[in-house]
Amino acid sequence: SNVSISKFSKQLRVLLLFKNILKEMKICYISTLNHDFYSFLNSELKRETSPQEEGQGEELYRRPLRCLDMVAVDGQFTFTADRPQLSCAAFLLAEPDQVIEVEYDSVDIDCRGGDFITVFDGWVMKGEKFPSSQDHPLPLHERYVNYCSMGSLRTTVRSNQNVAMVFFRVHNAGSSFTLTLRKHVNPFPCNVMSQTPEGSYTMVIPQQHRNCSFSIVYPVAIDISEFSLGRFNNVPKRSMPGCADSGDLVQLLGGNSLDTMKLVPITDVCVSFTGPTHMKVACDNTVVRMVSSGTFVNRVSFSYRMLDRHELQNIKLNNVEDFCFNN
Ligand SMILES: *[C@@H]1O[C@H](CO)[C@@H](O)[C@H](O)[C@H]1NC(C)=O
Repeated sequence: SNVSISKFSKQLRVLLLFKNILKEMKICYISTLNHDFYSFLNSELKRETSPQEEGQGEELYRRPLRCLDMVAVDGQFTFTADRPQLSCAAFLLAEPDQVIEVEYDSVDIDCRGGDFITVFDGWVMKGEKFPSSQDHPLPLHERYVNYCSMGSLRTTVRSNQNVAMVFFRVHNAGSSFTLTLRKHVNPFPCNVMSQTPEGSYTMVIPQQHRNCSFSIVYPVAIDISEFSLGRFNNVPKRSMPGCADSGDLVQLLGGNSLDTMKLVPITDVCVSFTGPTHMKVACDNTVVRMVSSGTFVNRVSFSYRMLDRHELQNIKLNNVEDFCFNN
């Protein structure tokens, strides 16, 4: 099924339950859910952000880890089972220019009995992954690291982008483990999950043969203000219409999946330009994806904000071509 993003959003709703935000929430629209998800996140960030710097002798932030949880700050998170917990997940999220390091401490689980703690490099829901397999530097099986098969020499796992996930299963009450989470600066962020409902971002791929995606998991109005190929502003020779034969381009993708590979291209840009391109995308997920051949320093700048209820209604009523409402 390709409706996992709404499953995903349901999961986030469960997260919201923990915060009692649900009380004030009208359950009708995914954008509403996501809006509350982001306000939840922001309140978590405000509440949990602690000023202490490492190496200044200050205490690390500490709190219990819940079976379904969202963690956006550095610190130590301890899970203690009061009963068997067979299906738990923690979403980890950092700033766009950060990666996340997970360190295992004092793990007391029954690996032989089928317990596990697995870090996933990205977010995954029902097989849909961010970043998609196409855009991630590692093959899929290497993105899962299970504590139980890590060996004793290694105790940390590091993500390749600003999101990661921890899955865990424990069969026995009293089992416990502690995760220490640290964020590290990522000088060349590639794949990014937006942390906020509006913002602006400049994606740069410095002469590397790779593809990068910036994902916004709610309907947005987006302005692509600039796309440039290299400092000489080359206009590549094109023999075919559109961007089909261009090794360097920016795609705007939309759809109702978390996985970039399952999204539909809305527009392609492959000639350097400045000047705004405005677009409204009434989808659960909007992605700016840059394909880079490695020949140029590619750069794209864009800004975005969440569509309000009124705009969504208008698109739904007036735009028969909008594919996100039609499938
Ligand atoms: C980047 O994406 C393009 C098309 O989407 C694909 O053909 C190419 O193999 C990808 N490059 C890398 C390095 O993954």
